[in-house]
Amino acid sequence: MRLGRRATTLRAPLVPTHTVRVRLRGCGGRLRIGTDATRLRTVTAVRSMQTLSVAVPSGRPVSAVRFARAAAARARQNGRARRACARVSVDRVDVAAPPVPLGAAVRDDALASDAPYRSALASDFRSATPENELKMEAVHPQPDIYSFERADGIVGFARSRGLAVRGHTLLWGEQLPRWVTSPVMPWTRSSLREVLRRHVTTVVGHFRGRIDTWDVANEVVRADGSRSSTIWQRTIGDDDLDVAFRAARAADPGARLVLNDNGIERAGAHQDGVVRLVRDLRARGVPVDGIGIQAHLDPGSGVTASDLDRTMSRFAALGVRVEITEADVPRSPPLTPAATVAQAETFAQAADACWQHAACDRFTVWGVTDAHSWRGADTGAVLVDGTGHPKPAYAAVRAALAGRS
Ligand code: G3I
Repeated sequence: MRLGRRATTLRAPLVPTHTVRVRLRGCGGRLRIGTDATRLRTVTAVRSMQTLSVAVPSGRPVSAVRFARAAAARARQNGRARRACARVSVDRVDVAAPPVPLGAAVRDDALASDAPYRSALASDFRSATPENELKMEAVHPQPDIYSFERADGIVGFARSRGLAVRGHTLLWGEQLPRWVTSPVMPWTRSSLREVLRRHVTTVVGHFRGRIDTWDVANEVVRADGSRSSTIWQRTIGDDDLDVAFRAARAADPGARLVLNDNGIERAGAHQDGVVRLVRDLRARGVPVDGIGIQAHLDPGSGVTASDLDRTMSRFAALGVRVEITEADVPRSPPLTPAATVAQAETFAQAADACWQHAACDRFTVWGVTDAHSWRGADTGAVLVDGTGHPKPAYAAVRAALAGRS
């Protein structure tokens, strides 16, 4: 592309926070360069071959890189005025999206007792999900008692190290306090609706502005695509989801609200059920912003890169964001070198599928180190070993999330 008489605009598929690298050729003077979301800045003494980077600010869509001639320099240096570039040819434009952030599920007991665990979280991850500390049994042990200390500890640690925080989870059929599962008086539709509404309002409100995303609903669709049978769904009906998502939006309008599920990594009745549900909810104005693909990739799960690619395209087509929310790849002991390589490949496939889809903007592994994985330390299911050292799978995931797989 050659610089025109005054200016030239190069159309490029840019999204906010991208970096545009432009390689110039044949221009030995001053050039102005920018995008249609940034000011044109003057680059001087452009050598005959130079690569320039233009950062694209977040928040504004950008579709063009602009070049313009710079006025000849007023000041004379070394006796020579800096000529403006009479012509410039651009022979390459790289649009590099920022790496997809890597997150981990966090346990408060491990964070308090295990120094390598704590150090790995702070240095190897950019997002944290309290693994159990935000579930109803933990934060709402009695009808009129909320207990946020454990979750506050994780959120405080994460945010003090610049990590984002995901909330998990508000509406689930498991890890519920006994006062919900075995009430003195049986619940009615309206009394349990009020319990749910108040729970979501109180918990999301407590963390407003500190948790950027909530798994509002977790595992609410069965493998056959029908709604899971939980005390919420059985007592309230299918609009238990409406109650939870609307209360969450009202409590923190800035948080992303996600429907999280497992077993939806590949096409089938389960995935169809989630698509139907999300489409119906959104059509009724229920604020579902994203779908969480848990990606517990057990050996023999048979989930392939193309499965995930098709799945992400399908979910993104609903107009929602997509996240990998609970990735792990357990292996049967003994953890041989071959098994380690296979694990890295499986993780990298999932990470690459996320990188390839602009709708996928976070990849979370279900555990910081093997030592505290819910799968058991002997399965080596996550990215960092029990002593806090990243495994080959960690490097493979980081490369894939940066588009270098
Ligand atoms: O808190 C009690 C403790 O007081 C008791 O001494 C101890 C011994 O039994 O149990 C502790 O509760 C355990 C709880 O984790 C907190 O550590 C439960 O027994 C145990 O069943 C529970 O497991 C959690 C599991 O969800 C429950 O379904 C796992 O840690 C957690 O990783 C797992 O996470 C789920 C996601 O939330 C949803 N997606 C699937 C994922 C894996 O199952």
